[in-house]
Amino acid sequence: MKIAIVSGASAGLGEELLKQAVMRFPSVEEFWLIARNREKLEALAASLPERRFRVLPLDLCREDSFEALREELAQEKPDLRLLVNNAGCGYLANIGEGPLGDQTHMVDLNVRAMTAVTHLCLPYMKTGARIINISSIASFCPNPRMTVYSSTKAYVSSFSRGLSEEVKARGIVVTAVCPGPMDTSFLTAGHIKGRSKTFETLPYCKPAAVAEGAVRAAIRGQAVYTPRAFFKFYRVVAKLLPSAVMVKATRT
Ligand SMILES: NC(=O)c1ccc[n+]([C@@H]2O[C@H](COP(=O)([O-])OP(=O)(O)OC[C@H]3O[C@@H](n4cnc5c(N)ncnc54)[C@H](OP(=O)(O)O)[C@@H]3O)[C@@H](O)[C@H]2O)c1
Repeated sequence: MKIAIVSGASAGLGEELLKQAVMRFPSVEEFWLIARNREKLEALAASLPERRFRVLPLDLCREDSFEALREELAQEKPDLRLLVNNAGCGYLANIGEGPLGDQTHMVDLNVRAMTAVTHLCLPYMKTGARIINISSIASFCPNPRMTVYSSTKAYVSSFSRGLSEEVKARGIVVTAVCPGPMDTSFLTAGHIKGRSKTFETLPYCKPAAVAEGAVRAAIRGQAVYTPRAFFKFYRVVAKLLPSAVMVKATRT
């Protein structure tokens, strides 16, 4: 059975990525949706009655969720055409301040879970399959006050580039997507809204537009997709200037 897996499908960018995948991957017979909130995933699946869905209400910060996914895959032995690693979180706080759990949550979800899900899924992917990893403009250089978040996203981008080379010979394409700020529950969950001049000043990306661009880029075989000219320019600047200089201006 041809399937697609989308993590963090219950809200924000993930919901839009799912809608794009449904539209642009017509051969996929079943979409597997991962997030903690079962009700939201079921409501989303019900709103798209033309396609088949499997709801996997997993907390990807828990070790047993990897076992559950491993078993689901082993039982179905699917032909995984598209994997979207979108579930992620970002907290605004200096290290050493606020709850420890916020800092470790970002590492557990953005780094550990993304790595584990990809590792478990790859044996089920063949030529032509696509992996979309949601990174961020935060991956371009460290962002003080979101140091852990930007470090986790640097990992996502670096992981995507390395993996892309590893799986090229198998005909699998990996795309890292680097959006700027989006007005989703990410901002409230991460205590960012109303507390960051940078987030108030930067231009925003629309989740639907990011999702459309991301899925198109993956289908084209692009390794990195950065929405909006402003952030494409920022990516080039961050490549050219030493990070010791950049980091003076990238406080969140
Ligand atoms: N919003 C921004 O400004 C921004 C900018 C650049 C990049 N990004 C990246 O874009 C991606 C999507 O973020 P978003 O803005 O759409 O945020 P969002 O609206 O908060 O959505 C996050 C998604 O991840 C799921 N999730 C959270 N913790 C989870 C866990 N432990 N296990 C499984 N699923 C979990 C959430 O569902 P449940 O709560 O139901 O689990 C939800 O579906 C993230 O990787 C984020 O880092 C966001």
